[in-house]
Amino acid sequence: MIELRDLDTGDEEQLFQWRGEPEVARWMSDADVSGREAHRAWFHQLRTDPDLKGWMILRAGGPAGLLTLTGLTGHHRRAAWNWFVGDREARGRGVGRAAQVLGLDQAFGVLGLHKVWAEVMADNDAAMKIQTGAGFRREGYLRGHVLKDGQPRDVVLLGILAEEWAALAPEARRNLTDSGLIAA
Ligand SMILES: CC(C)(COP(=O)(O)OP(=O)(O)OC[C@H]1O[C@@H](n2cnc3c(N)ncnc32)[C@H](O)[C@@H]1OP(=O)(O)O)[C@@H](O)C(=O)NCCC(=O)NCCS
Repeated sequence: MIELRDLDTGDEEQLFQWRGEPEVARWMSDADVSGREAHRAWFHQLRTDPDLKGWMILRAGGPAGLLTLTGLTGHHRRAAWNWFVGDREARGRGVGRAAQVLGLDQAFGVLGLHKVWAEVMADNDAAMKIQTGAGFRREGYLRGHVLKDGQPRDVVLLGILAEEWAALAPEARRNLTDSGLIAA
């Protein structure tokens, strides 16, 4: 069963490990994890700044990944989506697909957003497939937009609107409850 829960203080160490893993870090479009102190400050901000919200993705009750929304206090009622499944044993088993449905329900249902958008590395096939599969649409292509290890990388902009999710959510939830991935 896949669930989301609020972050607690004990998650800081786990998130530091995951953020430093090459399979996670290589796809993050923000700055590289630059050390323990920077991570501590990032985690503190994630838990206290009303502009941000983070959830631990749980698989069978244990931590499997992180989902964050950024920009919550802005005028436009939109937020940027960022996420990873940090537990490598959990990848490719539907955790991301389920967490995405739960996260979009939080974003549009609980938080009342109008739009969720994401920057995805253009060669991140897994993220592109899963996010467009849930209804994110491609809205732009930014050449050489981020530097990873000093190398320019292209980024795709994805977005989904509240009314689009409202139309897609019932079937997405049904598919996940039928396969036992989320609670009915
Ligand atoms: C992207 C990510 C969150 C997806 O989570 P996941 O739990 O591994 O994904 P799922 O098991 O739910 O798979 C979802 C779909 O993606 C597909 N997929 C998984 N890995 C893939 C890959 N390397 N290439 C292409 N498709 C892939 C699966 O086949 C599945 O499709 P299906 O439902 O048609 O079978 C996870 O792989 C991850 O954390 N990757 C590293 C960090 C990252 O890229 N974060 C996103 C930054 S934008």
